[in-house]
Amino acid sequence: MDSAELFAKLESSAPLSGSELSAILNLTGADDLTRLYALAYAQKLRVTGRKVFFRGLVELSNICARNCFYCGIRRGNSKVRRYRMTEDEVYSAADMALKSHFGSMVLQGGERNDPEFIDCVERLILGIRQRTGNQLGLTLSLGEQSPETCDRWFAAGAHRYLLRIEASNPALFRKLHPADQSFENRVACIDYLSSHGWQTGTGVMIGLPGQTIDDLVSDLIFFREHNIDMIGMGPYLSHADTPLGAAYPHWTPAFELSLKMIAAARLYLRDVNIASTTALHTIRPDGRELGLLAGANVIMPNLGDSSYRKEYNLYEGKASLDDGIDDCMTSLLEGIAKIGEEPAPDEWGDPKHFFSRVSSKS
Ligand code: 5AD
Repeated sequence: MDSAELFAKLESSAPLSGSELSAILNLTGADDLTRLYALAYAQKLRVTGRKVFFRGLVELSNICARNCFYCGIRRGNSKVRRYRMTEDEVYSAADMALKSHFGSMVLQGGERNDPEFIDCVERLILGIRQRTGNQLGLTLSLGEQSPETCDRWFAAGAHRYLLRIEASNPALFRKLHPADQSFENRVACIDYLSSHGWQTGTGVMIGLPGQTIDDLVSDLIFFREHNIDMIGMGPYLSHADTPLGAAYPHWTPAFELSLKMIAAARLYLRDVNIASTTALHTIRPDGRELGLLAGANVIMPNLGDSSYRKEYNLYEGKASLDDGIDDCMTSLLEGIAKIGEEPAPDEWGDPKHFFSRVSSKS
């Protein structure tokens, strides 16, 4: 398919096929890319206007029971100084989220499935809701959990969950994870969340060794088939203290391909929330803004203490490691104003897709 044909299709707003998604991801010329991002941005405007939703990100702990081959906080990385925020520190972060007019916060951390951790997260959810008068949307990003744990955390008051599939091609997933991590279980967790009331987010890393354009097209189709509400995707960045980073030490991160994936996701899935992720910002100082201009509508500024942040290196060179929240916010707000976008103070910013899929079921 040539690009004239592709753009005629994109401008008609008709549903996209796999070969059209593939054509989007294969676009190269500067003019074509500008045109693609403008179309995706126009779709974003139709869904949420010029608004950007902020989620204050709290990295609770870098203690992780998993050993993913790409991730800097994998269990086997003995160079990491492990930490756990105290409950009071998490509550201060919630206060900060409220004070900064972030409508929502995200509790993210290494994966743990022990009862002590599960109880602690439940207490934190209850405590945050009580302390903030239930004014904050509450997202969890704590890995694969049992249905019972998901139910408990939902009953306590969390309502969004992020669990990236990382790679929807089972063969690629298996290359990225040790044998004790099953692709099928991860999919089952995602499906459980979305069928049990959660606004459900997933996503992939882009530009992984061994990943093809067809894999990325399958990722987009996976998001649609699993009726996903929120997308968080970013370039794969190598980390020297991981097996994948050691095997491909000079791997070039896929910045442009990541923007094309955001645009393709916006044009294909339309009413979902899409994050412009820290990994984009890590590669280019204006990466997050370019993500917004390619169709993303969510930004997740880090609320945690900078001494902990240094130890939450999923990949190397992670952006904003030294800056305090005030510095980060000033540059972020300036960047957003420059592109004509505006923050949506105090709004939860729920994904519209969630409400349309829930109402179409009843
Ligand atoms: N590069 C990019 N993203 C990574 N993540 C973990 N390690 C890396 C890396 N090396 C992402 C995973 C995970 C999310 C929390 O961070 O996709 O789901």
